[in-house]
Amino acid sequence: MSDPLVLGIETSCDETGVAVIEGLEVRSSVLASQTDIHARFGGVVPEVAARAHVEAIRPLMHQAMSQAGVYSDQIDAVVATRGPGLVGALMVGFAFGKSLAWSLGKPFFGIDHMEGHLFAPRLEFEDYQPPAIVLLASGGHCQIVHVKDWGDYETLGATIDDAAGEAFDKLARFMGLGYPGGPAIDAESEDGDPDAVAFPRALADRPYDFSFSGLKTAVVTYLEKARDAGELPPRADVAASIQEAIVDVLVDKTFNAVDSTGAQVVAGGGGVLANRRLRERLSEEADRRGVGLYVPSPSLCTDNGAMVAAVGVERLSTGATPDALDTDVDPAMRLGA
Ligand code: KG4
Ligand code: ZN
Repeated sequence: MSDPLVLGIETSCDETGVAVIEGLEVRSSVLASQTDIHARFGGVVPEVAARAHVEAIRPLMHQAMSQAGVYSDQIDAVVATRGPGLVGALMVGFAFGKSLAWSLGKPFFGIDHMEGHLFAPRLEFEDYQPPAIVLLASGGHCQIVHVKDWGDYETLGATIDDAAGEAFDKLARFMGLGYPGGPAIDAESEDGDPDAVAFPRALADRPYDFSFSGLKTAVVTYLEKARDAGELPPRADVAASIQEAIVDVLVDKTFNAVDSTGAQVVAGGGGVLANRRLRERLSEEADRRGVGLYVPSPSLCTDNGAMVAAVGVERLSTGATPDALDTDVDPAMRLGA
């Protein structure tokens, strides 16, 4: 049998993503980013996001089909993100996907967004296979998952307050670096000294959990004091030190999990994995231990339709039962639950 053609739709937050994949080959993957729309609010506004998805989804679906060079009746399944995410945003892509599947008479599957991130490296690395330790870090999530097999996931640890991307975003805003903050701090750090300021690394006593709210307070307090004393260090040094503090804990805890499980495969997903320093540090640690590292290109780390479609291909290959068309979104969906 030839590889299935799957159309994947992702609308859990502020990116409308549609992709067509054939087996694990990406035929097209298009995105309508809402970053500019939300930038003036300094963060994602749920109502605005949902409306922007409504406007973007249909033209984007046509663009994905034509770029892939496929007609809609050639599609074998339609899949869309079911959760976790913003309820209004999720509903747009989910309802669109269900109607499309119904009109084409093809199966529909609702997909866990986080499982999509776990699958994304498969689109770039043929030899990426469980068991693996996967670091998922973005604006909305921050967790370490032990992928024992496809479909068998154990979340070993997670953030107890802010997600790593959220920390980047909030701190960048405080420093006047704009939104989204991750790429801004990443760029600003380039000429900075990561050891200039020793910001705290939280929860050293908990091997797999994260906490970033204390870092935020520490940075704010530090900058206010330095300003009052007229001793503000160069902004690049502060940015690099913040980045180092976040990257340090992400790397440490990921490799705590690698060491305790004996996993030989490490992977990553979510927008924060686009961070250059994080990628560099993960690579150094993986090399040091001789384990395989599978962090895909930044465009596959951030939210996209192809990663969701990749889970759809797996559903088809295992003969999973399609979801009924009265299935609803699940904004609080939890991996493996
Ligand atoms: O996965 P994503 O596109 O959307 C979700 O939040 O689900 O991740 C967006 C997050 C934002 O917080 C953004 O600041 C962060 O990923 N991010 C980065 C970088 N690029 C994006 N953080 C650090 N360094 C980057 N280069
Ligand atoms: Zn995501």
